[in-house]
Amino acid sequence: MKATLKDLESHFAPPAWEEAMELVKETNEYDLTQPQANYFHVLSKNPDYHVEMMLADDGSVTAKCHCSAFKRSGICKHALAALIILRDRSIRRRRNRSRLKHEKILLDEVLKKLNVTELRKFVATHAHSHSAFRAEVLANYLHRIRRPDYHHLLNDMTPMDKYGIIKLNRNNLKSVRNIVAILHRQAQDLLKENALPQTIGILEATIPYLYRLSIKVPQFQHQLATELKHALKLFEAFCRLPMAPRLQKAAITLSMEVSGRDGFRMIKGTTTLLQSAEAFILEKKVRRNAFQLVEEKVATDTEQRILWGSLLIRWMRVWEMKPRNKEVKRMLSGIAPELVLELQAQRAYADVLYILSLYDPSKYDASTARPMLQAGLRAAKLTGDEPTGLTMAYALSVMHLDTEAWETLFRSDPESAVQALKIVHAYYPPHDRKEADHFLLSGLQRSGEKKLLLERLNQLDDVELLMQYDKTLVSDHTIALANMYTHHIHALRSMYGGETIRKKLAAIVYHLKDNELHTHVKDNLELMEKDVITKSNIRGFIFDLDGVIVDTAKHHFQSWQSIMLELGVEISEEDDAHTRGASRMESLEYLLQKYGVVMSEKEKESWAAKKNSIYLASIEQITPTDLLPGVLTFLEEARKSGFKLALGSASKNARAVLRKLEIENRFDAMLDGNDTTRSKPDPEIFIKGCEALKLPASEVVVFEDAAKGVQAAIDAGCHVVGIGSPQVLAKAAMTIDGLHQIEPKRITEVFA
Ligand code: BG6
Ligand code: MG
Repeated sequence: MKATLKDLESHFAPPAWEEAMELVKETNEYDLTQPQANYFHVLSKNPDYHVEMMLADDGSVTAKCHCSAFKRSGICKHALAALIILRDRSIRRRRNRSRLKHEKILLDEVLKKLNVTELRKFVATHAHSHSAFRAEVLANYLHRIRRPDYHHLLNDMTPMDKYGIIKLNRNNLKSVRNIVAILHRQAQDLLKENALPQTIGILEATIPYLYRLSIKVPQFQHQLATELKHALKLFEAFCRLPMAPRLQKAAITLSMEVSGRDGFRMIKGTTTLLQSAEAFILEKKVRRNAFQLVEEKVATDTEQRILWGSLLIRWMRVWEMKPRNKEVKRMLSGIAPELVLELQAQRAYADVLYILSLYDPSKYDASTARPMLQAGLRAAKLTGDEPTGLTMAYALSVMHLDTEAWETLFRSDPESAVQALKIVHAYYPPHDRKEADHFLLSGLQRSGEKKLLLERLNQLDDVELLMQYDKTLVSDHTIALANMYTHHIHALRSMYGGETIRKKLAAIVYHLKDNELHTHVKDNLELMEKDVITKSNIRGFIFDLDGVIVDTAKHHFQSWQSIMLELGVEISEEDDAHTRGASRMESLEYLLQKYGVVMSEKEKESWAAKKNSIYLASIEQITPTDLLPGVLTFLEEARKSGFKLALGSASKNARAVLRKLEIENRFDAMLDGNDTTRSKPDPEIFIKGCEALKLPASEVVVFEDAAKGVQAAIDAGCHVVGIGSPQVLAKAAMTIDGLHQIEPKRITEVFA
């Protein structure tokens, strides 16, 4: 629905208009809001309707109601009523505005014609009862008179009672701010007109006044901050202008007087008074006074020590002065790191460099020294002080392993940058500190120090770092890189890592995919595999446990000795050969029969169980250190070379023992006394072992310490290496003292 507010009536038929007017009358509770410049809402509660209106540039208004009638026909009484409400409001507004304007012009006219005496009189008589109004009038016109007394005006608003308490509360705060704002507006205009004495006249009143209020009535500090900031900005602008010495002096006095007060606070985001007036402080004596004032503040104003300190540093530099107070000197050195940061925040870069020349960052602890040096580097860059920048960058590189600083150093002085790398390389061995390694690798890569980079990567032996930094090395050091990758892939393949290892391998393969290294690595790996396995028939090993992997054979025998002794028999050493490799029950049967001990099946069970508990107690304490020599190396190398590995033990305790030795997950298959029904020399266990490895027996070598075990392996069709005496194990293809005497590769040669 579109209309123009001016002649709204003419757009609608009389009945519709009347109906709308009726509705306007009824509409008592409503909100007319203006969320955007040309956008209005009329929200009426009772009667309930909501109309949105858009004002176009040509003065026409489009109204949209949310009722169903409007949706149906695009017009409704609500929309029309809302337009009437909007029209009436804008008429009222216009009237008000013009009335206010008119009154103001009138007042101005009248007041302009008055002289000061008349003005005072006017204020005294007509505005006597209303102090805020009186103050406002004075604030507006006081600058017109010759010696305006702003102090009086301001203090009048916030009188002090007999207890020295200033009357500033929520009621008069607004007027105070208003008056100060008016005065500052005057000051701003006066400044523009270059009426400097008048400007400082106002500031001399408002600045101390505002500070006094802030100090004495701190709860309103926050509310007064806007005015105070404005005052300080005006003062700063004022001080930038050329002026008569008398005015300069006034500015100095003002800043010294106010700054010297107890409780004086600097305001964030402004230039402090003394610094604004600094350009005027030329006389030696005045400088000394100002310097001393700040020195005192450093010593006493703990809360703002850093801010005062930064001003003192500035003056030390520009005025070439030194603090006299020993305590202050000591303090400055203590707070130097914070001062550096403060000066940096103030963008006082010359001061940053100056303070760094006074206090050597290396004397502070590392976490403090680093930001100091960084600030120094930045300041040097911004001030174009290249030599200092380079010194800072060098220190940051060597002492703090700062890659960014090193980059800066490298850009301006590559030789020093490489020198820094060499120092770090010499100072931090690989893996000593992660940051050092990263610092070095990225630096070496960036500077093209390929040899050193390759050396470091080799020392680090970390495939992830290798992938990250190999780019620059690919063309010149392909073979060396390929060898490194081959070594990593090979090592990973021989680990028992499951998912993580697989992922790692996949990442490497992916990395090498589009790389010329890929073919080299592939060839290397193929060669390695051929070298070990393909030349031979042997693809798997089966290990007996007791007497091969761990020296528990003697515990078995001692356990038999002790129970037989309980049964009244002393068994002989030669019995060992009969019980070794045999199952528990079979061993007992043998001993009972040999020594003529008769007992029931039940008793046999119980004596066998007793033997087992003695045995278990005796191996209770075994740990990985009890592994027989060479076992672990053999298992690892066999795994790396790709052999399949199985356990083939008659013992029902085998798994528990492997767990104690921490090697239970090093086998592809495990067969023990629980998996067989027939004891060695029956070949059952080795036949099952080969099946589990999915290898024909002819490709499997068994390691056995028992003659019964050797026989079992032979009968299963495996090759056998005996561990122990060649006489006892005569049937084995070869005998050795232990796995430390042989390598997997060598076995493949023997059984090739
Ligand atoms: C063999 C031992 O490995 O295991 C035998 O050489 C022993 O001496 C057999 O009897 C059974 O062991 P366990 O632990 O089941 O009693
Ligand atoms: Mg054995």
